[in-house]
Amino acid sequence: MTHLPSVTRRKILAGLGGLALAAPALLRPRPALAALSGRPFVQPALDAGRMEAGRRVFDLAVATGGHEFLDGIETATIGINTGFLGPILSARAGDALRMNVANGLGEPMTLHWHGLHLPAAADGGPHQEVAPGATWSPEFDLRQKAGTFWFHGHQHRKTAEHVWAGMAGVIRVSDEEEAALPLPRTHGEDDFTLVLQDRRFDAAGQMPYDANMHDRMAGMQGDVMLVNGLAAPVLDTAAPRLRLRILNGANGSFYRLHFADARAFYQIASDGGLLAAPVAMRETVLSPGERGEYLLDLADGAVAQLRAEAFGAEAAMMGSAGIREVMTFRPDAARTPAPALPERLADLAPPPAPTGATRTFTLSMSGMGMMGDFLINGGQYDHDRIDFSVPLGATETWIWDNTTPMIHPIHIHDVQFRIIGRNGQPPAPQEAGLKDTVLIGPGEKVALQVRFDDYADAVLPYMYHCHILEHEDAGMMGQFTVV
Ligand code: C2O
Ligand code: CU
Ligand code: CU
Repeated sequence: MTHLPSVTRRKILAGLGGLALAAPALLRPRPALAALSGRPFVQPALDAGRMEAGRRVFDLAVATGGHEFLDGIETATIGINTGFLGPILSARAGDALRMNVANGLGEPMTLHWHGLHLPAAADGGPHQEVAPGATWSPEFDLRQKAGTFWFHGHQHRKTAEHVWAGMAGVIRVSDEEEAALPLPRTHGEDDFTLVLQDRRFDAAGQMPYDANMHDRMAGMQGDVMLVNGLAAPVLDTAAPRLRLRILNGANGSFYRLHFADARAFYQIASDGGLLAAPVAMRETVLSPGERGEYLLDLADGAVAQLRAEAFGAEAAMMGSAGIREVMTFRPDAARTPAPALPERLADLAPPPAPTGATRTFTLSMSGMGMMGDFLINGGQYDHDRIDFSVPLGATETWIWDNTTPMIHPIHIHDVQFRIIGRNGQPPAPQEAGLKDTVLIGPGEKVALQVRFDDYADAVLPYMYHCHILEHEDAGMMGQFTVV
């Protein structure tokens, strides 16, 4: 590869910038976007499926459609049973499930159950391709703790494009341990699901997946913040305390969440379920793919404005993309005082003692600057290569060593793992619970304890990858079998 002198490079970049400015699309005014903020907050429909011979069955029709993000403009999208995103699937731990996934896209796709522990054949990763017009109907048991999970497209090299268009939804799991706690859990009354994403629209109000070289490096980001497909909605509520189930469903944006008045709130659950105890915080970062459940007290009657400072993979070099308004909570005058917070939430056993291998995953980049490929242990994803096998029942130590100047949120299929060390330090309390996605900052080394139970398959693998979807599609992914 030739190494351009920096002056030449700068001239080239300036030239490209000049071209971009002259493009007519950018000179046209943006459609009337402001008109659509401030609408009432809406959640995706809650779907409890239907019972068939003791099995909870969900029908999920994936199709192209449209959604009104901007006033009076129909934007082309992908939705699941609706125009944009999909339903909130509601199920109980221990349920036997069947998912009927119908592909109405006109092109191959997959649908992956992010965070769920299940057989590799049911995982919905790149090896469970659904042909156009076909229906895929995996059956599996819901072996989870109560928590907030999600599902999204995972087609090889198309994950970013499919999720950007709207191919994602939430799974809400309940169990007895959680039901015994004094926590808000009435959907739409004191329990709300927020899918956070950002998008950018072209002059015609469309959001084509047109990732440029920078987007592929830093992760695709947009300037319009959306919650459940709405810009800056408002929720009027009479509840003194709300439970917010927040999913970062963005392609490439990390969100530093906080309230405009810097009020404290409490995290009660991480990716895989309840934390040991509520964790008080004034801000928290959610990476692409991560979920958190939070309690927001409104008993003082003050309006609460949720904000997100959005940043991409290269934040260490480039800083953040700015602070966006997410949504507004407007308490009713007639609220009652909030009950006392539970002191304990879940009995989280300490991470299991390792019985198996220690594996190191080194994140690196080839080449330089904008030309680099993202690598795990020096290689890129190969659809026909299993990178390693784990013996069924093993508890392994997986060490992620980020030698790049970028942030990578690393996700492992099939498991809920425990973080045992971040740069040699114990994890923060909100990171000490069940996790399936973890932020690895530039230069960081993060150690995980991962247990592989129940399901073995000599042929079909699970994935591990960066959840910046542009990095995943570019090959920052590997696959393992449990045997
Ligand atoms: Cu959320 Cu492999 O994915
Ligand atoms: Cu996953
Ligand atoms: Cu990455």
